[in-house]
Amino acid sequence: MGELQGKRALVTGAAGGIGRAIVVALQNAGATVAGADMAESAADIHLGGDLTNAAYTDGLPDAAAQALGGLDILVNNAGIITRGRITETTDADFTRTMAINVEAPFRLCRAAIPLMAAAGQGAIVNVASCWGVHPGPDHPLYVMSKAAVASLTQCLGMDHAGQGIRVNAVCPNEVNTPMIRTGFDIRGLDADSAIASLNASVPLGRIAEPEDIADVVLFLCSDKARYLCGSLIEVNGGKPVG
Ligand SMILES: NC(=O)c1ccc[n+]([C@@H]2O[C@H](COP(=O)([O-])OP(=O)(O)OC[C@H]3O[C@@H](n4cnc5c(N)ncnc54)[C@H](O)[C@@H]3O)[C@@H](O)[C@H]2O)c1
Repeated sequence: MGELQGKRALVTGAAGGIGRAIVVALQNAGATVAGADMAESAADIHLGGDLTNAAYTDGLPDAAAQALGGLDILVNNAGIITRGRITETTDADFTRTMAINVEAPFRLCRAAIPLMAAAGQGAIVNVASCWGVHPGPDHPLYVMSKAAVASLTQCLGMDHAGQGIRVNAVCPNEVNTPMIRTGFDIRGLDADSAIASLNASVPLGRIAEPEDIADVVLFLCSDKARYLCGSLIEVNGGKPVG
């Protein structure tokens, strides 16, 4: 029997690179998964919408619980990367980055926790970033937003452990997904050769594949992580931010 047999999960950003791998990992472990994304996801149930729409986001945990018969797991994975120094960023960049990367996880945790508390158990995993814990250059909005998610995780991890709810975060370094590949496209670089040179910068010899992150999310959702509350797990192949 899978380690998440019978569990019901909501995963945001379920159509993206890491999100798709999380959906598959949770399903393979026996969970039923509701996927939330603007794009169509391959979850058991798709709850499509835009996370910048507060009413949609506030209602997602309840919608997932209604569809699945309860909610045991929330994975706040959706996110965007906003590049450029502070003098190159606009008000719209600030508002959009904070709405998707910070406000949506805030709203989803706020709505999911009472459902989990009523059931006496639950697991929330936030996908932050190494860049939120050790900020790198040229991405002020992204590092701020991911630092906020990391702090939210640490605070909620303490606040809700007493209700049987574990809140933790995974903090990846570079992962081979559309998010990182589009950055190379924008700069006019060939994504495959840019990734080959990035691979050489990682002590383990390659940047992460989405499954490397999904397996850690699965661990944090499972009973194997039963004593972890408010942890920030860096998944970086030995590569520091820089
Ligand atoms: N790829 C990396 O190198 C990397 C590194 C560290 C952390 N992360 C984090 O991992 C998470 C997933 O990233 P990814 O690389 O899979 O990115 P991705 O771009 O492949 O996927 C992100 C998904 O989120 C969805 N999304 C974005 N804005 C949305 C909105 N407003 N409403 C609904 N859905 C929305 C997109 O449609 C997409 O399917 C993000 O939080 C990201 O910050 C990624």
